Amino acid sequence: MQSVDGFGGAPPSGRQASQDGKAIARTLQAVRGMNDILPELTPSWQYLEDAMRRVIQAYGYREIRLPLLEKTELFKRSIGEVTDIVEKEMYTFEDRNGDSLTLRPEGTAGCVRACMEHGLLHNQVQRLWYAGPMFRHERPQKGRYRQFHQFGVEAFGMEGPDIDAELILMTAQLWKTLGLKGAVLQLNSLGTQASRAAYREALVEYFRGCLTDLDEDSRRRLDGNPLRILDSKNPRMQAVIGGAPRLPDYLDVESRVHFDALRALLDAAGIDYVVNPRLVRGLDYYGKTVFEWVTDRLGAQGTICAGGRYDGLVEYLGGRPTPAVGFALGLERLIALLEAEGVDLPDSNPHAYLVLSGDKGVRRGMVFAGELREAVKGLRLLTNCGGGSFKSQFRRADKSGAGLALVIGDDEAERGQVTLKPLRGESAQETLSQTDAAGRLGKLLGLELNA
Ligand code: HAM
Repeated sequence: MQSVDGFGGAPPSGRQASQDGKAIARTLQAVRGMNDILPELTPSWQYLEDAMRRVIQAYGYREIRLPLLEKTELFKRSIGEVTDIVEKEMYTFEDRNGDSLTLRPEGTAGCVRACMEHGLLHNQVQRLWYAGPMFRHERPQKGRYRQFHQFGVEAFGMEGPDIDAELILMTAQLWKTLGLKGAVLQLNSLGTQASRAAYREALVEYFRGCLTDLDEDSRRRLDGNPLRILDSKNPRMQAVIGGAPRLPDYLDVESRVHFDALRALLDAAGIDYVVNPRLVRGLDYYGKTVFEWVTDRLGAQGTICAGGRYDGLVEYLGGRPTPAVGFALGLERLIALLEAEGVDLPDSNPHAYLVLSGDKGVRRGMVFAGELREAVKGLRLLTNCGGGSFKSQFRRADKSGAGLALVIGDDEAERGQVTLKPLRGESAQETLSQTDAAGRLGKLLGLELNA
């Protein structure tokens, strides 16, 4: 027979139950590196997400929603087998059919897959964005989590540097909208495939000459993916990496022309940047333009936004050759930066708290609250639920952060009135007719009325 609690055993009682409960609560904590975003922080997230959406949509980009799970093969092929993400960081498992699936570590691969699958790339350009959680089994620290959130933008079908510039201008516009000042744009070109092949050869030759200085990871990567040695985070490797051949010396004419034209566009738009020849990015699909916005205010995890061109990926995954470029920004890092720069976030406390008493007061009050919300644009009104004396309701009203209490008791209900009582400041309370309340509230709070 099934137990009462549905867990297959007789429910313990009394002290035993409470001790078991505490033990269970301890083991049922969130997975390391995966954060709850509590109500006091969600207004910052909503503010950021709204701003992102407004800016991106002002550029005509359309949202695409993608699954959190994809076939493992997709990430192996697109991000690259010999990358930190694929080798060490993916949450991969077999589902009940024995298929190998992976929680998406980033959004570009899934976006490309969806566009190919639904024929969105044939003879058309696409400007798309997506948002949501990504998963990487990295070592958690400030600014680096195992579940984190990105806003991503991908543009398909345009090969010129103008679209690269558009994306960078869009990010700059976003910082302006958010009031962020400290981010620096780093820019590089990884060149065409031909340039990278030439550079790869030079790198292999160089690193073979200093094999004993290489750590185990780098030695393993020497044949498979020597470019990845350059983004090793091992401090012992930095000297040998510092002496390696530089990518800009291997760029072919096509890559140079593209990069110079992008720089001219950025210069004309007044966007400052630093060319960083060591910027190679940690994913294999990039070629030509790559960029990162970096801040020094967040410690080691200072990259708030990163992206670049990946003209070869669609074809590599079996589609027709399709130029593509995109970026993603990390929301956790942006929130931290907003805080570090002391950017003022809009108030999200309720404007008013409706105190109710008596049967008639409660019945009328619940309906009146709905009328007010409909009449006053953007009004945030909390209705007292769960009864309580005036005193305790006013305590709740105060705790809610509302600036104003509205009171309806039986008397007010009968007379069609409501009392307005400021909770902060010196103004006096006033009693007025319920029909005038919306207008008065609008005026007091600076909110418009719906027609
Ligand atoms: P990514 O550089 O791997 O690129 O990630 C983009 C951004 O996501 C980073 O700059 C950072 O802000 C944030 N991020 C990455 N990992 C973590 C983490 N463990 N914890 C917190 N934030 C993190 C991509 O994902 C590419 N798909 C970007 C792209 C789009 N390229 C072309 N299109």
